[in-house]
Amino acid sequence: MSETARLILENQEIELPVITGTENEKALDISKLRASTGYITLDPGFKNTGSTQSAITFLDGEKGILRYRGYAIEELAENASFLEVAYLLIYGELPNTDELEYFTNSITHHTLLHENMKRFFDAFPIGAHPMGMLSSMISSLSTFYPESQEQNRSVTDIERTIHRIIAKLPTLAAQAYKHNKGLPIMYPKNELSYEGNFLHMMFGVPTEKYDVNPIVEKALNKLLILHADHEQNCSTATVRVVGSSQANLYSSISAGIAALWGPLHGGANQAVIEMLEQIKNDGGDLDKWINKAKDKTDSFRLMGFGHRVYKNFDPRATIIKKAADEVLEALGVEDPILNIAKQLEAVALSDEYFVQRGLYPNVDFYSGIIYRALGIPTDMFTVMFALGRLPGWIGQWKEMIEHSAPIGRPRQVYIGTTSRPFVPLNKR
Ligand code: ACO
Repeated sequence: MSETARLILENQEIELPVITGTENEKALDISKLRASTGYITLDPGFKNTGSTQSAITFLDGEKGILRYRGYAIEELAENASFLEVAYLLIYGELPNTDELEYFTNSITHHTLLHENMKRFFDAFPIGAHPMGMLSSMISSLSTFYPESQEQNRSVTDIERTIHRIIAKLPTLAAQAYKHNKGLPIMYPKNELSYEGNFLHMMFGVPTEKYDVNPIVEKALNKLLILHADHEQNCSTATVRVVGSSQANLYSSISAGIAALWGPLHGGANQAVIEMLEQIKNDGGDLDKWINKAKDKTDSFRLMGFGHRVYKNFDPRATIIKKAADEVLEALGVEDPILNIAKQLEAVALSDEYFVQRGLYPNVDFYSGIIYRALGIPTDMFTVMFALGRLPGWIGQWKEMIEHSAPIGRPRQVYIGTTSRPFVPLNKR
């Protein structure tokens, strides 16, 4: 017999079906609540609200578990390539050799941008934030590929759009960086790996041959995998809501990039480095900054600490912390910021305030330190996050389309003024 929950409302008893996930996660199905009672639920920030049933990513915030399609993040980060993980997230299974070759080949051959897009870049001011440029440029791709917006688009159209976005995002990201610095752009090189090609377009210059450093390439592969999906987070929920109106994939991803930019989400990696720099330049008094973070009259928060779902530890942070040590050692980089980060983590983790609230370093606490060691400038950090998160956004969008999800449209409880007569201007 299927499980139900009973809700008593104004002496009326209502049965709510209980939905159980494959990992035994429980949810109350309230989809018919308003129709049968007139009530809605109120849940600011959707802290208790499941917006969908999804077969892509499982995470257990209490136990610190993260799996893509059933595979542990630790195993994927250690053994897989980013494109393999992208395939897994989007299509549901790890690719065999032929499938991966086809996928990689298709992506490699869609990396070029229409030459007209150069004129868009030219119009942005030098120094423009790469996230602002990236979000606009991705959205503008829909104007070059109008089939992405057609309502009767074929599976092949959708497939091509998916491959195009994965192929073009690194080109756009690298060009955004070059434009930000006022440097000439580099065209993609098809013989390089996905990560190698990005590094070539970022750091290569037209007059010299650029050799991809395998340590940097491998570290980038790992970072992209760790960021590839995180179920219904702010940017993914945005991609799904925008896509639910049947807007095209380019526009949906552009909205996801905009949502990711904020410092409470993907922008945290930039904010962490800026915070650590500030602490260093201020003399490194950690207690002072910990106290500021605890002070409710002070808006300062310890960036890179806390997470909406992880309340014990973020498994990605554990992998990244280890990788940060390895990468800095392999590249021979000594960064005083890493020591400050480690000390700050130790002080915070032994402080009652942080322990009580389950505030631990999240994925972004150490990712910025690796990006710095790889030579990636601070305002590109969130762009790196977007490159990693792209397959997750696409997989979630595709799942939503395949489930024929209804348009995302929350309700509200109105608390404004009730009906009143209009007052003409001369009587106000
Ligand atoms: N520093 C100090 N106090 C904090 C922090 C922090 N970083 N994070 C949460 N708190 C406190 C809050 O003040 C609150 O305290 P209270 O109960 O006394 O009022 C309590 O911990 C709970 O915090 P909420 O903001 O309610 O938690 P929520 O789940 O809404 O927010 C968030 C999660 C946004 C990540 C938050 O922890 C934060 O702002 N962290 C810093 C920004 C950051 O690192 N973001 C990256 C997240 S990871 C990602 O997007 C990939």
